[in-house]
Amino acid sequence: MIQNRPRRNRVSATIRGLIRENEVGASDLVYPVFLIDGSNIKSEIASLPGNYRWSLDLLLIELKECIELGINTFILFPVVEESLKNSTADYGFDPNNFYLKAITKIKSEYPDICLISDVAMDPYSSDGHDGLVENGEIVNDKTLLILGKMAIAQAKAGIDIIGPSDMMDGRVGYLREVLDEAGYYNTGIMSYTAKYASAFYGPFRDALDSAPKSGDKKTYQMDPANVNEALIEAELDDYEGADFLMVKPAVHYLDIILNLKQNFHKPIAAYHVSGECAMLIAADQKGWLKLETTVPETLLSIKRAGASVIITYFAKYFMELRKR
Ligand code: PBG
Repeated sequence: MIQNRPRRNRVSATIRGLIRENEVGASDLVYPVFLIDGSNIKSEIASLPGNYRWSLDLLLIELKECIELGINTFILFPVVEESLKNSTADYGFDPNNFYLKAITKIKSEYPDICLISDVAMDPYSSDGHDGLVENGEIVNDKTLLILGKMAIAQAKAGIDIIGPSDMMDGRVGYLREVLDEAGYYNTGIMSYTAKYASAFYGPFRDALDSAPKSGDKKTYQMDPANVNEALIEAELDDYEGADFLMVKPAVHYLDIILNLKQNFHKPIAAYHVSGECAMLIAADQKGWLKLETTVPETLLSIKRAGASVIITYFAKYFMELRKR
């Protein structure tokens, strides 16, 4: 005789609903969007179909649609013209920077949303690196000074949370200090804590045209083979005052998400990166898999691993699916 039949708890949709342990909802989701200077521009990212570089006028409409679907948090990335890039990423804190002006405009149109920035040199750097390049080396401490100016400019523009994605040592503490000194003690920090030197960032770099001009990012982003480094980075970010600890990429690093969740009390964010999303889109286009089933399962896996914040290019699509 079989005493325990786990299948009894699966016999109907209602019972399956009763025992369901995890659910993804709009309040878990962050939608990354790309902003380009100009007007009336909606240019599709070839390696990430369904995602666009938006000019501000059209982005405001896109954001409104997302807000109506319940999505209230966005990460904004700038697509910067090559002629505005230089080795010290000066445009990143230029008062005329279209990205900074857009932050102010978006927050005045939609004051209740949470807007997250990107703090790193690569969108503005002629070298395509997240830090300052000197004689082929990505120099740490001089980069911090540049990131500090960038963070203050963004805080001044009205950003809710800054997102340092650069992986320089000591940056969370440094940014916290300069923000506080400038009076921005309420501006949060979502740190890219465990950011791996991943092969899955390709479509993002296409979107920004920001691939490194020489070398790779392995002297600052982490080795995919390592777990302990993620714990070290998390300890530092926690201590230095980060408000969120992020793991990036997400799906290939679910073990890291779980590990941080079990060892830290700060909220864990996971970045379901461009290449991870592109794989699913490609399989759907080939007719091999269907987005309407792969996307919910994928986002659920990230949630189940322990992320309370899921950054994904499927945020809008997922909420549209739920409305069907
Ligand atoms: C760079 C940055 C990258 C991403 C977010 N911020 C790319 C990189 O580190 O080269 C990737 C996001 C994605 O692939 O979706 N500061």
